[in-house]
Amino acid sequence: MYILGIETSCDETAVSILDIESGKNFKILSEVVFTQEKVHELYGGVVPELAAREHLTAVTIVFEKALLEANLKLKDIDCICVTRGPGLKGSLLIGYNFAKGVCSTLNKSFIGVNHIEGHILSVQLDNPALEFPFLSLIASGGHTELIQVNGLGDYSVISRTTDDAAGEAFDKAANLLGIPYPGGAALAAIADTVTSSTFSLPRVMHGKRDFSFSGLKTAISLLIQKESKNLEAAKAELCYAIQNSIVEALIDKVDDAVKITGIKNLGVAGGVSANACLRRKLTAKKNVTTYFPENKHTTDNATMIAYAGGLRYLRGDITPLKEEVLARWPVETLK
Ligand code: KG4
Ligand code: ZN
Repeated sequence: MYILGIETSCDETAVSILDIESGKNFKILSEVVFTQEKVHELYGGVVPELAAREHLTAVTIVFEKALLEANLKLKDIDCICVTRGPGLKGSLLIGYNFAKGVCSTLNKSFIGVNHIEGHILSVQLDNPALEFPFLSLIASGGHTELIQVNGLGDYSVISRTTDDAAGEAFDKAANLLGIPYPGGAALAAIADTVTSSTFSLPRVMHGKRDFSFSGLKTAISLLIQKESKNLEAAKAELCYAIQNSIVEALIDKVDDAVKITGIKNLGVAGGVSANACLRRKLTAKKNVTTYFPENKHTTDNATMIAYAGGLRYLRGDITPLKEEVLARWPVETLK
Protein backbone atom coordinates (compact mmCIF):
# COMPACT_ATOMS: atom_id res chain seq x y z
CA MET A 1 0.00 0.00 0.00
CA TYR A 2 1.50 3.35 -0.98
CA ILE A 3 0.53 5.98 1.59
CA LEU A 4 1.44 9.65 1.15
CA GLY A 5 1.43 11.84 4.30
CA ILE A 6 1.26 15.64 4.43
CA GLU A 7 1.98 17.79 7.50
CA THR A 8 1.38 21.56 7.63
CA SER A 9 -0.02 22.13 11.15
CA CYS A 10 2.61 24.64 12.32
CA ASP A 11 5.86 25.80 10.67
CA GLU A 12 7.06 22.68 8.84
CA THR A 13 5.84 21.76 5.36
CA ALA A 14 6.47 18.03 5.11
CA VAL A 15 5.56 15.17 2.80
CA SER A 16 6.53 11.49 3.25
CA ILE A 17 5.66 8.31 1.40
CA LEU A 18 5.41 4.90 3.07
CA ASP A 19 4.94 1.45 1.62
CA ILE A 20 2.95 -0.15 4.45
CA GLU A 21 1.47 -3.61 4.97
CA SER A 22 1.04 -3.46 8.77
CA GLY A 23 2.28 -1.54 11.84
CA LYS A 24 5.48 -3.58 11.85
CA ASN A 25 5.89 -4.18 8.14
CA PHE A 26 6.55 -0.97 6.26
CA LYS A 27 9.25 0.92 4.41
CA ILE A 28 9.86 4.68 4.31
CA LEU A 29 10.25 5.59 0.62
CA SER A 30 10.73 9.34 0.98
CA GLU A 31 10.67 12.09 3.60
CA VAL A 32 10.90 15.75 2.60
CA VAL A 33 10.73 18.59 5.12
CA PHE A 34 10.83 22.31 4.45
CA THR A 35 11.24 24.25 7.68
CA GLN A 36 10.21 27.89 8.10
CA GLU A 37 12.35 28.51 11.20
CA LYS A 38 14.32 31.32 9.52
CA VAL A 39 11.09 33.16 8.59
CA HIS A 40 9.82 33.22 12.18
CA GLU A 41 13.18 33.72 13.92
CA LEU A 42 12.92 37.46 13.36
CA TYR A 43 9.67 37.61 15.38
CA GLY A 44 10.69 35.30 18.23
CA GLY A 45 7.83 32.88 17.52
CA VAL A 46 5.59 31.48 14.78
CA VAL A 47 3.55 34.17 12.99
CA PRO A 48 0.38 32.33 11.81
CA GLU A 49 -0.24 34.49 8.73
CA LEU A 50 3.36 34.08 7.51
CA ALA A 51 3.29 30.35 8.26
CA ALA A 52 0.21 29.84 6.06
CA ARG A 53 1.76 31.82 3.21
CA GLU A 54 4.99 29.81 3.39
CA HIS A 55 3.04 26.52 3.32
CA LEU A 56 1.18 27.70 0.25
CA THR A 57 4.44 28.35 -1.62
CA ALA A 58 6.14 25.17 -0.42
CA VAL A 59 3.48 22.46 -0.44
CA THR A 60 3.45 21.67 -4.19
CA ILE A 61 7.25 21.62 -4.42
CA VAL A 62 7.64 19.40 -1.34
CA PHE A 63 4.89 17.07 -2.66
CA GLU A 64 6.58 16.72 -6.09
CA LYS A 65 9.97 16.14 -4.46
CA ALA A 66 8.60 13.36 -2.22
CA LEU A 67 7.14 11.54 -5.26
CA LEU A 68 10.41 11.95 -7.14
CA GLU A 69 12.49 10.61 -4.23
CA ALA A 70 10.16 7.62 -3.85
CA ASN A 71 10.38 7.03 -7.60
CA LEU A 72 6.58 6.91 -7.80
CA LYS A 73 3.89 8.62 -9.86
CA LEU A 74 0.81 10.13 -8.27
CA LYS A 75 -1.32 7.41 -9.86
CA ASP A 76 0.60 4.79 -7.78
CA ILE A 77 -0.49 6.33 -4.43
CA ASP A 78 -3.36 4.45 -2.71
CA CYS A 79 -4.24 7.00 -0.05
CA ILE A 80 -3.36 10.56 1.00
CA CYS A 81 -3.20 11.24 4.76
CA VAL A 82 -2.97 14.80 5.99
CA THR A 83 -2.89 16.52 9.38
CA ARG A 84 -6.44 17.68 10.17
CA GLY A 85 -5.62 19.17 13.57
CA PRO A 86 -4.82 20.31 16.18
CA GLY A 87 -2.73 23.23 14.94
CA LEU A 88 -2.82 26.70 13.42
CA LYS A 89 -6.00 26.90 11.35
CA GLY A 90 -4.49 28.82 8.43
CA SER A 91 -1.57 26.39 8.24
CA LEU A 92 -3.75 23.29 8.53
CA LEU A 93 -6.03 24.54 5.75
CA ILE A 94 -3.18 24.67 3.21
CA GLY A 95 -2.12 21.01 3.47
CA TYR A 96 -5.67 19.77 4.09
CA ASN A 97 -7.28 21.49 1.12
CA PHE A 98 -4.34 20.60 -1.11
CA ALA A 99 -4.83 16.91 -0.19
CA LYS A 100 -8.61 17.17 -0.64
CA GLY A 101 -8.13 18.67 -4.11
CA VAL A 102 -5.79 15.87 -5.20
CA CYS A 103 -8.04 13.15 -3.73
CA SER A 104 -11.27 14.45 -5.23
CA THR A 105 -9.72 15.00 -8.69
CA LEU A 106 -7.94 11.64 -8.86
CA ASN A 107 -10.45 9.67 -6.81
CA LYS A 108 -7.95 8.65 -4.09
CA SER A 109 -8.75 7.69 -0.50
CA PHE A 110 -8.48 10.62 1.94
CA ILE A 111 -7.66 10.48 5.66
CA GLY A 112 -7.50 13.44 8.07
CA VAL A 113 -4.98 12.57 10.80
CA ASN A 114 -4.74 13.87 14.36
CA HIS A 115 -1.28 15.45 14.80
CA ILE A 116 -0.92 14.20 18.39
CA GLU A 117 -1.82 10.66 17.34
CA GLY A 118 0.98 11.04 14.78
CA HIS A 119 3.48 11.99 17.52
CA ILE A 120 2.25 9.15 19.80
CA LEU A 121 2.69 6.50 17.09
CA SER A 122 6.02 7.95 15.87
CA VAL A 123 7.65 6.04 18.74
CA GLN A 124 6.35 2.67 17.47
CA LEU A 125 7.38 3.69 13.95
CA ASP A 126 11.01 3.63 15.12
CA ASN A 127 10.68 0.99 17.88
CA PRO A 128 8.80 -2.15 16.79
CA ALA A 129 9.44 -3.61 20.28
CA LEU A 130 7.07 -1.08 21.89
CA GLU A 131 3.69 -2.82 22.25
CA PHE A 132 0.29 -1.51 23.43
CA PRO A 133 -0.54 -0.52 26.13
CA PHE A 134 2.10 2.13 26.78
CA LEU A 135 2.37 5.58 28.30
CA SER A 136 3.07 8.42 25.92
CA LEU A 137 4.71 11.70 26.88
CA ILE A 138 4.20 14.30 24.16
CA ALA A 139 6.43 17.33 24.77
CA SER A 140 6.67 19.87 21.98
CA GLY A 141 6.44 23.60 21.36
CA GLY A 142 2.65 23.46 21.38
CA HIS A 143 1.77 20.44 23.54
CA THR A 144 2.64 18.74 26.80
CA GLU A 145 0.52 15.69 27.58
CA LEU A 146 0.83 12.30 29.24
CA ILE A 147 -1.46 9.78 27.63
CA GLN A 148 -2.36 6.16 28.29
CA VAL A 149 -2.28 4.48 24.87
CA ASN A 150 -4.32 1.28 24.80
CA GLY A 151 -4.37 0.80 21.03
CA LEU A 152 -4.89 2.69 17.77
CA GLY A 153 -7.50 5.37 18.53
CA ASP A 154 -7.84 4.37 22.20
CA TYR A 155 -6.28 7.14 24.26
CA SER A 156 -6.93 8.51 27.73
CA VAL A 157 -5.18 11.66 28.86
CA ILE A 158 -3.65 11.37 32.33
CA SER A 159 -2.30 14.91 32.54
CA ARG A 160 -1.70 17.91 30.32
CA THR A 161 -0.35 21.42 30.71
CA THR A 162 -2.66 24.05 32.12
CA ASP A 163 -0.66 26.84 30.41
CA ASP A 164 2.62 26.76 28.45
CA ALA A 165 4.08 23.69 26.76
CA ALA A 166 7.52 22.31 27.73
CA GLY A 167 9.07 23.39 24.41
CA GLU A 168 7.55 26.85 24.86
CA ALA A 169 9.19 27.05 28.32
CA PHE A 170 12.56 26.17 26.73
CA ASP A 171 12.04 28.72 23.92
CA LYS A 172 10.86 31.56 26.19
CA ALA A 173 13.80 31.03 28.57
CA ALA A 174 16.15 30.98 25.57
CA ASN A 175 14.62 34.23 24.33
CA LEU A 176 15.27 35.88 27.71
CA LEU A 177 18.91 34.81 27.36
CA GLY A 178 19.15 36.31 23.87
CA ILE A 179 19.17 32.94 22.06
CA PRO A 180 17.27 33.13 18.73
CA TYR A 181 13.91 31.29 18.23
CA PRO A 182 13.34 28.38 18.60
CA GLY A 183 16.03 28.36 21.25
CA GLY A 184 15.25 25.04 22.99
CA ALA A 185 17.96 22.97 21.34
CA ALA A 186 20.56 25.76 21.60
CA LEU A 187 19.79 26.33 25.30
CA ALA A 188 20.15 22.57 25.87
CA ALA A 189 23.50 22.52 24.06
CA ILE A 190 24.82 25.33 26.32
CA ALA A 191 23.43 23.58 29.42
CA ASP A 192 25.28 20.39 28.46
CA THR A 193 28.65 22.18 28.59
CA VAL A 194 28.52 22.14 32.42
CA THR A 195 27.74 19.39 34.92
CA SER A 196 26.23 21.39 37.77
CA SER A 197 24.77 24.79 38.62
CA THR A 198 24.87 27.11 41.60
CA PHE A 199 21.38 28.35 40.64
CA SER A 200 18.21 26.61 41.65
CA LEU A 201 14.66 26.90 40.39
CA PRO A 202 11.42 25.68 41.98
CA ARG A 203 10.05 22.17 41.37
CA VAL A 204 6.87 23.07 39.53
CA MET A 205 3.47 21.46 40.20
CA HIS A 206 5.01 18.77 42.42
CA GLY A 207 2.17 16.69 43.88
CA LYS A 208 -0.37 18.01 41.31
CA ARG A 209 -1.69 15.94 38.45
CA ASP A 210 -1.22 18.43 35.59
CA PHE A 211 1.82 20.21 34.14
CA SER A 212 2.24 23.98 34.42
CA PHE A 213 5.20 25.99 33.18
CA SER A 214 4.06 29.60 33.60
CA GLY A 215 5.23 29.86 37.24
CA LEU A 216 8.59 28.48 36.22
CA LYS A 217 8.75 31.05 33.43
CA THR A 218 8.31 33.84 36.02
CA ALA A 219 10.98 32.31 38.27
CA ILE A 220 13.38 32.00 35.30
CA SER A 221 12.69 35.59 34.28
CA LEU A 222 13.39 36.87 37.83
CA LEU A 223 16.59 34.83 38.05
CA ILE A 224 17.84 36.14 34.69
CA GLN A 225 17.04 39.72 35.76
CA LYS A 226 18.97 39.19 38.99
CA GLU A 227 21.99 37.91 37.07
CA SER A 228 21.72 40.51 34.28
CA LYS A 229 25.10 42.12 35.06
CA ASN A 230 26.81 38.76 35.00
CA LEU A 231 24.79 37.09 32.23
CA GLU A 232 27.54 35.91 29.88
CA ALA A 233 29.61 34.34 32.68
CA ALA A 234 26.55 32.75 34.29
CA LYS A 235 24.88 31.63 31.03
CA ALA A 236 25.88 27.97 31.03
CA GLU A 237 24.87 27.45 34.66
CA LEU A 238 21.61 29.30 34.12
CA CYS A 239 20.84 27.08 31.09
CA TYR A 240 21.71 24.02 33.18
CA ALA A 241 19.30 25.05 35.96
CA ILE A 242 16.53 25.87 33.44
CA GLN A 243 16.91 22.59 31.53
CA ASN A 244 17.04 20.64 34.77
CA SER A 245 13.85 22.19 36.14
CA ILE A 246 11.87 21.54 32.91
CA VAL A 247 13.18 17.98 32.60
CA GLU A 248 12.49 17.22 36.29
CA ALA A 249 8.92 18.54 35.93
CA LEU A 250 8.35 16.11 33.03
CA ILE A 251 9.90 13.15 34.88
CA ASP A 252 7.89 13.91 38.03
CA LYS A 253 4.65 13.44 36.10
CA VAL A 254 5.93 10.29 34.38
CA ASP A 255 6.54 8.76 37.82
CA ASP A 256 2.97 9.67 38.85
CA ALA A 257 1.54 8.16 35.64
CA VAL A 258 3.47 4.90 36.14
CA LYS A 259 2.06 4.70 39.68
CA ILE A 260 -1.51 5.50 38.59
CA THR A 261 -1.65 3.10 35.62
CA GLY A 262 0.86 0.38 36.51
CA ILE A 263 2.12 0.62 32.90
CA LYS A 264 5.91 0.35 32.67
CA ASN A 265 6.58 1.18 29.02
CA LEU A 266 6.89 4.79 27.94
CA GLY A 267 7.15 6.41 24.51
CA VAL A 268 8.39 10.02 24.41
CA ALA A 269 7.76 12.17 21.34
CA GLY A 270 7.58 15.77 20.13
CA GLY A 271 10.47 18.23 19.70
CA VAL A 272 11.55 18.15 23.36
CA SER A 273 12.04 14.36 23.16
CA ALA A 274 15.28 15.17 21.28
CA ASN A 275 16.64 16.65 24.53
CA ALA A 276 19.73 14.66 25.56
CA CYS A 277 19.31 15.36 29.31
CA LEU A 278 15.70 14.11 29.24
CA ARG A 279 16.78 11.01 27.29
CA ARG A 280 19.63 10.29 29.69
CA LYS A 281 17.52 10.68 32.83
CA LEU A 282 14.56 8.67 31.54
CA THR A 283 16.78 5.89 30.19
CA ALA A 284 18.46 5.56 33.61
CA LYS A 285 15.14 5.04 35.40
CA LYS A 286 14.37 1.64 36.92
CA ASN A 287 10.58 1.95 37.19
CA VAL A 288 9.97 2.43 33.47
CA THR A 289 11.44 1.42 30.07
CA THR A 290 11.55 4.41 27.72
CA TYR A 291 11.51 4.47 23.92
CA PHE A 292 12.24 7.49 21.71
CA PRO A 293 11.77 8.17 18.01
CA GLU A 294 14.79 8.80 15.80
CA ASN A 295 15.81 12.46 16.03
CA LYS A 296 14.31 13.35 12.63
CA HIS A 297 10.93 12.03 13.83
CA THR A 298 10.88 13.98 17.12
CA THR A 299 9.95 17.32 15.53
CA ASP A 300 7.01 17.78 13.17
CA ASN A 301 7.27 15.43 10.19
CA ALA A 302 4.99 13.77 7.66
CA THR A 303 6.29 10.23 8.21
CA MET A 304 4.35 10.01 11.49
CA ILE A 305 1.25 11.30 9.66
CA ALA A 306 1.64 8.73 6.86
CA TYR A 307 2.21 5.99 9.47
CA ALA A 308 -0.80 6.89 11.68
CA GLY A 309 -2.96 7.45 8.57
CA GLY A 310 -1.68 4.24 7.01
CA LEU A 311 -2.75 2.21 10.06
CA ARG A 312 -6.18 3.84 9.87
CA TYR A 313 -6.38 3.13 6.13
CA LEU A 314 -5.64 -0.56 6.81
CA ARG A 315 -8.53 -0.45 9.33
CA GLY A 316 -10.87 1.22 6.82
CA ASP A 317 -11.11 4.64 8.51
CA ILE A 318 -11.61 6.89 5.48
CA THR A 319 -12.45 10.59 6.15
CA PRO A 320 -15.37 11.98 4.09
CA LEU A 321 -14.20 14.91 1.93
CA LYS A 322 -16.84 17.19 3.48
CA GLU A 323 -15.08 17.09 6.89
CA GLU A 324 -13.21 20.28 7.82
CA VAL A 325 -9.95 20.97 9.72
CA LEU A 326 -10.08 21.05 13.53
CA ALA A 327 -7.77 23.65 15.13
CA ARG A 328 -8.63 22.03 18.49
CA TRP A 329 -8.98 18.24 18.45
CA PRO A 330 -8.31 16.52 21.81
CA VAL A 331 -6.70 13.13 21.24
CA GLU A 332 -9.01 11.41 23.75
CA THR A 333 -12.02 12.10 21.45
CA LEU A 334 -10.57 9.78 18.77
CA LYS A 335 -11.89 6.27 18.18
O1 KG4 B 1 7.29 18.96 17.84
P1 KG4 B 1 7.85 20.28 17.44
O2 KG4 B 1 8.71 20.34 16.20
O3 KG4 B 1 6.74 21.35 17.16
C1 KG4 B 1 5.54 21.47 17.80
O4 KG4 B 1 4.61 20.68 17.47
O5 KG4 B 1 5.50 22.36 18.65
O6 KG4 B 1 8.64 20.84 18.70
C2 KG4 B 1 9.40 22.01 18.66
C3 KG4 B 1 9.84 22.34 20.07
C4 KG4 B 1 10.46 23.73 20.19
O7 KG4 B 1 9.93 24.35 21.31
C5 KG4 B 1 11.95 23.43 20.36
O8 KG4 B 1 12.65 24.41 21.07
C6 KG4 B 1 11.90 22.15 21.15
O9 KG4 B 1 10.85 21.42 20.54
N1 KG4 B 1 13.16 21.40 21.05
C7 KG4 B 1 13.97 21.15 22.11
C8 KG4 B 1 15.08 20.44 21.62
N2 KG4 B 1 14.91 20.25 20.28
C9 KG4 B 1 13.72 20.84 19.96
N3 KG4 B 1 13.83 21.50 23.41
C10 KG4 B 1 14.82 21.09 24.24
N4 KG4 B 1 15.90 20.40 23.86
C11 KG4 B 1 16.09 20.04 22.58
N5 KG4 B 1 17.17 19.36 22.21
ZN1 ZN C 1 4.08 18.55 16.76
